[in-house]
Formats: sequence, C-alpha cells, structure tokens
Amino acid sequence: MQDTSINASFRDDLIEALRRTPKSISPKWFYDERGSDLFEAITALPEYYPTRTEATLLARIAPELAAGIPDGAALVEFGSGASAKTRILLDAAPQLSAYVPMDISVEALDAAARRINADYPALEVWPVAGDFTHPISLPDEVAGRPTVGFFPGSTIGNFGRDGAEVFLRTVRTLLGERASLIIGADIVKDRATLERAYDDAAGVTAAFNLNLLERANREAGADFDLDAFAHRAVWNEALERIEMHLVSLKPQVVRIAGQAFLFGEGETLHTENSHKFTEAGFEALAAAAGWRLGRSWISPAPEFAVFVLNPP
Ligand code: TRP
Repeated sequence: MQDTSINASFRDDLIEALRRTPKSISPKWFYDERGSDLFEAITALPEYYPTRTEATLLARIAPELAAGIPDGAALVEFGSGASAKTRILLDAAPQLSAYVPMDISVEALDAAARRINADYPALEVWPVAGDFTHPISLPDEVAGRPTVGFFPGSTIGNFGRDGAEVFLRTVRTLLGERASLIIGADIVKDRATLERAYDDAAGVTAAFNLNLLERANREAGADFDLDAFAHRAVWNEALERIEMHLVSLKPQVVRIAGQAFLFGEGETLHTENSHKFTEAGFEALAAAAGWRLGRSWISPAPEFAVFVLNPP
C-alpha cells in the first residue's frame, strides 16, 4: 500500500538525524511494509548465515534446552515474528503451560497467537502488546509460574552496549526469580564472512538500507536522490560491530520540510549497528545486567551462539 501522507514523527526524527554529526538515524524506520518484506528476504540469502545457523543449532540442542525447562513454565518471547524458532522449543518441551508472545506490532502478535493456538491446542496463549525495551509486566494469568524468556535472532546486537544491558535488566525484572533466558547471539568472526552477510551479491541488503531514503521521500517529504547514495556495510573490529551506512557519492543538498542538509562526498548516514559477541564478552554483559551465564552452545563456523542465562 502506498501512503502519501506525511508521517510527522518520522520527519522530525529524520531532521534531527541529519542535524547530528556524524549523521545517524534509528533503525526502527526501516520496517515499513517493503522494509519488512526485504528483511524477510535477507534472512533467506546464502550470505546471511545467522537465521539458518541459529535454527539448525536450536533444533540440535532442543532436547538439552527442554531438559532445563520446569514443568508448567511459561515461555515468554520478545518479538514474535520468529515462530519457526518458537516451534522448535514448543515441540521439544510439552511441559510448557503457556506461551506469552510480546511484540510492539498488534498485527504481528495476533498472527503469531493464532498460528500457535491452532497447532498447540493444549497450550495457553497470552499475547502482550507493547514495547519490550520499556518495563512492562506479564499477564496476571501466568503469575506464579516459572518463566523461560526467548530472544532469538541476535537482535540483542542491534541495541548497542548500553541498550543491551538495559534490555537484559528489564527482562530480568519482568521474568522474576524462577526464570531463565534463552538468547541467540552472533559471534565475532572474520571480516569477509561478516561483511558479505550484510552486503549480499544480489543487493537485497542494499535495497533494504536504501529503502529508508525511499521511505523518507514518500513519507517525510524528503528529496533524496537515490542514485547519489550507496549501501555500505563495514566491520568495526574495535567496537565488534557491523555498521550499516548510506554513503553520499557526491557533494549534495537534501531538502526536507523547507530545510536544507548538506552531505559531503563520502559522508554517511549511519543507519544500524549489529554487534557481535565473544562468549566472555556476553558473560560480562549478562553479569552487568544481573544474570549469570549458564550453558552455552556455539555452532560450527560460521559461529552463532545460544546462551542460557539464569539468576545469579
Ligand atoms: N539482528 C539481526 C542482525 O543484526 C537481523 C538484522 C537487523 C539485520 N537489522 C538488519 C540484518 C539489517 C541485515 C540488515 O544481523
């Protein structure tokens, strides 16, 4: 669907982003309908190893994960798009009594709840709509049950160091004392593998990144010249993160709501970070947020980890 009306909060955010030095914007604006479709396509790319590596690892370790899940526990998933991975756990752990998908998108939540309800009739499903990066609470219906959090996809890596710690602390409070958290995290590895994963040969990740500018033209009244910007993904080894940028191919002026923004040649708009972890680094991050690292599994190369966190 084409929406030609001005999205004022996107426009205001964009103007602020372009005033900053260096220019940077929140990745949340990637996910309009086209952005969400492109993201789906990224997860199936040959170069983009995390999705399939994590799913394969989860399937292999499911019996071990299930053995650590108490009778009657509630499975609480943060971001409920990944129902394929959820099913791996639900199939392996029939002792789960309830599934609590949490998502900011009510449509995504309804779809997930309906799919799971249909296929797991014995399981209670209590969806929670809300932003799980802010303190929220569990539904009253699951109060008193042991909880198992589930956060696959290495989305923790998109939060930044401070954001990741705040998230883990929020989840620690939300899940209570009889809790564990099963979390997927991509592992630090060689530059070539990482940069290829975020700059595929078919150009899908480039289209995903550039869609932000197309969306800005459509919804924020901007006049970005799409041919004058290029996708760039670079491994920042010191900060252990892939950075996605949109790089200006020439000196140019972009106009939004009567304001002009200058881009120098080679200047970038920083659009996202994807942090990678070492096991020791993740353990330290978890400890800072009030969790103890329990078991961990790391796949064969390209390495991807599943960690189980527990209260200390
Ligand atoms: N969390 C995943 C990652 O960082 C998925 C993801 C988020 C992603 N934003 C992305 C993948 C942008 C490619 C491009 O890898």
